[in-house]
Amino acid sequence: MGENSVIEMFNLKDKVSIVTGGSEWLGYDIACSLAEYGSNIIITSRTIDRAENALRKIKADYGVETLALTMDQCNHDEVQTMVEKAKKWKGHIDILVNNAGGGSGNSTGYLFKRSPDDIIQMITTNLIGSLFCCQEVGRHMIEQGKGKIINIASAGGLVGRDRRIYKRNNKEQQPIDYAAAKAGVIGMTKDLAGLLTPMGVHVNAISPGGFDKGDLPDGFVDDFGNMTMQGRMGRMGVDLKGAALFLASSASDYVSGHNLVVDGGFSIFK
Ligand SMILES: NC(=O)c1ccc[n+]([C@@H]2O[C@H](COP(=O)([O-])OP(=O)(O)OC[C@H]3O[C@@H](n4cnc5c(N)ncnc54)[C@H](O)[C@@H]3O)[C@@H](O)[C@H]2O)c1
Repeated sequence: MGENSVIEMFNLKDKVSIVTGGSEWLGYDIACSLAEYGSNIIITSRTIDRAENALRKIKADYGVETLALTMDQCNHDEVQTMVEKAKKWKGHIDILVNNAGGGSGNSTGYLFKRSPDDIIQMITTNLIGSLFCCQEVGRHMIEQGKGKIINIASAGGLVGRDRRIYKRNNKEQQPIDYAAAKAGVIGMTKDLAGLLTPMGVHVNAISPGGFDKGDLPDGFVDDFGNMTMQGRMGRMGVDLKGAALFLASSASDYVSGHNLVVDGGFSIFK
């Protein structure tokens, strides 16, 4: 097949990938997809047990080496410490997936009753925390002259929400500050790509649409699914894996500053 084998382009053998907040859900799926193609995996979590449990399974399923590290990404010192330990592990960091984020806080998502502390926490976690990770891992990738950074944004950072489906199904609405933070992640990705691509470091985003964790009211799953062109929400364990693998691998070596939308067509007409 020769040196331009497309199968070989997806090979991540001996690479080191950090997936922040990768103990479960989409982060776990991403870690599995990179591990399946041979990457050694670091998962960070605020609770080390959760990362260790996830990594035990990844090691058993894919036979790669793993490392669990603690980090609250809102704390810059903790981000620095995590990156130092990650660097020491194998001497290189090839892939960073900035997945940690999400959350809604303790107060209602309705802006006019939302607590200022929750707004600050949301933006700090989803935007500033991801930027801290880009800063510290990016510093190391510049020295290497190569690397892949993937920031997990959201379709919510691209288009407004139809809050009628939340009301109709008695579901707490997604806070406006979540959209603000994720739109920020998309902007940050593009500008950071401008800075780092000439130094060999590729920076892209993935914007997932709504994924079903099995805890949503049936009516909401139907309503949300009907707003996508595929008629369903995203499947955990399946629908994000290919996008992450593509952007992590050399199959995307001519792609930087892109926001890959994985939403079943949710945002097409909006
Ligand atoms: N689930 C969806 O439908 C969906 C849709 C679009 C985007 N996303 C984004 O995808 C990513 C993963 O979401 P998910 O729903 O799979 O999982 P999630 O939102 O339940 O959890 C993400 C992880 O981030 C960690 N985390 C939160 N705050 C942190 C902090 N300060 N420091 C370190 N880690 C922290 C959590 O502990 C958790 O492990 C998030 O960035 C989320 O915003 C999710």
